[in-house]
Amino acid sequence: MAGAYDNGGSHCRLIIVFFLVLLLPLQISFVVCQQSAAKKLYVVYLGEKQHDDPERTTASHHDMLTAILGSEEEAHDSMIYSYRHGFSGFSAMLTESQAYDIAELPEVRSIKLSVVHPMHTTRSQEFIGLDYTKPNGLLHDANYGEGVIIGVIDSGIWPESSSFRDHGLGPVPSKWKGICQAGEKFSSNQCNRKIIGARWYVNHLTPKDFEGEYKSARCANGHGTHVASTAAGALVPNVSFHGLAAGYARGVAPYARIAVYKACWKALGCDDTAVLQAIDDAIHDGVDVLSLSIGLADFEFYGSLHAVQSGITVVFSAGNTGPAPRTVANASPWTISVASTTIDRTFPTVITFANSSSDIVGQSLFYETAGEDNWYEIYSTRYICCFNGTSININATLASGRIVFCYSPSLVSLVPPGTYLPSIARAAKKFGAKGIIYSTYSLDNLVIIQELCGSIPCVLVDFDAFHVLENALENTTPVLARFTPTRTWIGGEVLAPRISTFSSRGPSPLLPQFLKPDVAAPGSDILAAVQDSYKFKSGTSMACPHVSGVAALLKALHPEWSPAIIKSAIVTTASNDRNGFPILADGLPRKIADPFDFGGGFIDPNRAMDPGLAYDVDPKDYTSYFDCFSASNSSCESESRNLNLPSIAIPNLKASTTVLRTVTNVGQPDAVYKAIVQSPPGMQISVEPAILKFCQGKNKQSFKITFTLSHKVQGGYLFGSLAWYDGGVHHVRIPIAVRPVVSDNYADL
Ligand SMILES: *[C@@H]1O[C@H](CO)[C@@H](O)[C@H](O)[C@H]1NC(C)=O
Ligand SMILES: *[C@@H]1O[C@H](CO)[C@@H](O)[C@H](O)[C@H]1NC(C)=O
Ligand SMILES: *[C@@H]1O[C@H](CO)[C@@H](O)[C@H](O)[C@H]1NC(C)=O
Ligand SMILES: *[C@@H]1O[C@H](CO)[C@@H](O)[C@H](O)[C@H]1NC(C)=O
Ligand SMILES: *[C@@H]1O[C@H](CO)[C@@H](O)[C@H](O)[C@H]1NC(C)=O
Repeated sequence: MAGAYDNGGSHCRLIIVFFLVLLLPLQISFVVCQQSAAKKLYVVYLGEKQHDDPERTTASHHDMLTAILGSEEEAHDSMIYSYRHGFSGFSAMLTESQAYDIAELPEVRSIKLSVVHPMHTTRSQEFIGLDYTKPNGLLHDANYGEGVIIGVIDSGIWPESSSFRDHGLGPVPSKWKGICQAGEKFSSNQCNRKIIGARWYVNHLTPKDFEGEYKSARCANGHGTHVASTAAGALVPNVSFHGLAAGYARGVAPYARIAVYKACWKALGCDDTAVLQAIDDAIHDGVDVLSLSIGLADFEFYGSLHAVQSGITVVFSAGNTGPAPRTVANASPWTISVASTTIDRTFPTVITFANSSSDIVGQSLFYETAGEDNWYEIYSTRYICCFNGTSININATLASGRIVFCYSPSLVSLVPPGTYLPSIARAAKKFGAKGIIYSTYSLDNLVIIQELCGSIPCVLVDFDAFHVLENALENTTPVLARFTPTRTWIGGEVLAPRISTFSSRGPSPLLPQFLKPDVAAPGSDILAAVQDSYKFKSGTSMACPHVSGVAALLKALHPEWSPAIIKSAIVTTASNDRNGFPILADGLPRKIADPFDFGGGFIDPNRAMDPGLAYDVDPKDYTSYFDCFSASNSSCESESRNLNLPSIAIPNLKASTTVLRTVTNVGQPDAVYKAIVQSPPGMQISVEPAILKFCQGKNKQSFKITFTLSHKVQGGYLFGSLAWYDGGVHHVRIPIAVRPVVSDNYADL
């Protein structure tokens, strides 16, 4: 575990020390560079405590530090914690040379830079670059979202969850005008400085809608709790799912406040009327961000326009009906619609065959260790398949006591396995199967099958693993196999992010003139709070609160930014590649992601804090568009095309068209930007002017983008981008989707 770093040629010395963590000797080595004056947090370990009196132990820590630092006052200021009950040691802010001096003391067993343990649980936060320990970046500069209020319109909340403790938070923001509405098992004092308000909506419900529900803001199905803790959950240590994904849990904006609007009910779902009432209340109450992990592809919550006009950033999930095109939901131009991605974490499960050296590896969330030495015979359904397209086809006798191996190669491409996997799991469990091996393309969702399998392993394998297993079955009968409990695998070797298979794709079936989704964020196998524990969930529902949290951080850092600027900052700084690999979109087949998979790309919050330029929108322009649209006026073309969005979609380019945009400089006052265009094939894009100069007093510039077909081919959508580049860190890119239409009398379907 060497943590060496370059210190610009200053004199560095390698110190190797031994540190006892939970009685496991662990070798720590690090480089101490004498010429750096910057103070960092160090942990000094002294071994067994020397006194039974903790005050005396602490006094000895102060004495030691005073001797090194030279003054009692400086020692006092540097000391962060004194460990004095179970063992002796302290943590202090020290320069590297001071740390070196301490390391030389005979009584010091070890000294090392303080490391906050990897927060694997909500690994997604580190994966989007929001590292809790980083002394700079959006999370730090935005003070973890302190003071910003995120309204969550969902299925309520579980107030006792550790994720909603208010330790360390300041008072409830003074602008807050909401209430804490009491109800069944949720008293009005269950709000705190984290959950600052709660409302619930039952006027539209009938008695049977309350089945399995709480008549209050308390969450019955776990969804709202999961979403709220992902957006703004507090830091909670020692969280895992039966040991998987162990680490810290926290939300994207851990100091942001949560206002709960329970408009979704377990049996009924989220009724439009209740959602609108919630939006209305949220506007009154003073929320800054609204997070809505709800929606249907052919429905828009137009009421959200009022929230945006009141200065609230509204974030929606894009829907879970991918990978088919034209499935994206929540396409209103004033909202942010969020697609889902995987993260750099997988859950490999090894399947070992008796008398064979070729193991295969799949993925599952199998955590049971009892019986891991047991071998079971594989019952192969290779000639009958587990599912024949209409019903489950598993022989109860043969499944009992065996591992059911399913494959339906002719079906996987026709029927999404996600739709019948739960039935296979239910049937196999009922028949007493000892496990399931199912071969499929990436589903990016281990939760669907895990929830039903529980303690038996249900492992998804790819088609390569399938071939190994098929060969084994051909060469020997019976084949015995066993499962090794799943491990958690994290890191750069995992090809991530990829757009989740289930993530809904553009263009919007209702509003193709707006490019949707807007952006992508982690949503596959996300661990977050559910009741008193933590569970995995997958969906764009999980991706949405990541962006809500980022919007809250941006609002905390830039209180003057409008919802349109916040959206623009998130979209224009999103990335299309990682470590040189283009971001892929899972589906049939896996492919390089395009704007209909992820809009501007995968969120990059630390770049969004300083986007350089922003596409702001005067809320009146939304109204003009909306008035025209609601008058069923089919010629709202210019209203939508010139709406100043950070994206351009042209669903019917005939020969040539011109689009207007305006950018606002939100970076340093003097700046010169140059247009960088990536034209879709077969067309030319010209930008006029191609250079934008900003100075004090001139922070807005307008430009024209002209699209001209150069090679007339009637096909589908083609993609490109326009970026404004200042030669430095600002590369303000918007995605472009254009569908050429050569003739009205031709179709290629
Ligand atoms: C972490 O959780 C485990 C299992 O729940 C428990 O045994 C252990 O004591 C906990 N550790 C800490 C530091 O809380
Ligand atoms: C493995 O092979 C040996 C020898 O061929 C055989 O006796 C034994 O039963 C096999 N074990 C299993 C589990 O198939
Ligand atoms: C699937 O199996 C069921 C029950 O065995 C049968 O009724 C149905 O016709 C089968 N469907 C197909 C497409 O084979
Ligand atoms: C299930 O398998 C057993 C054993 O091979 C066989 O006797 C039985 O007929 C099968 N049942 C069905 C419904 O096919
Ligand atoms: C329809 O929209 C056009 C502009 O796009 C406007 O001139 C016209 O008055 C609108 N018609 C109605 C009925 O609203």
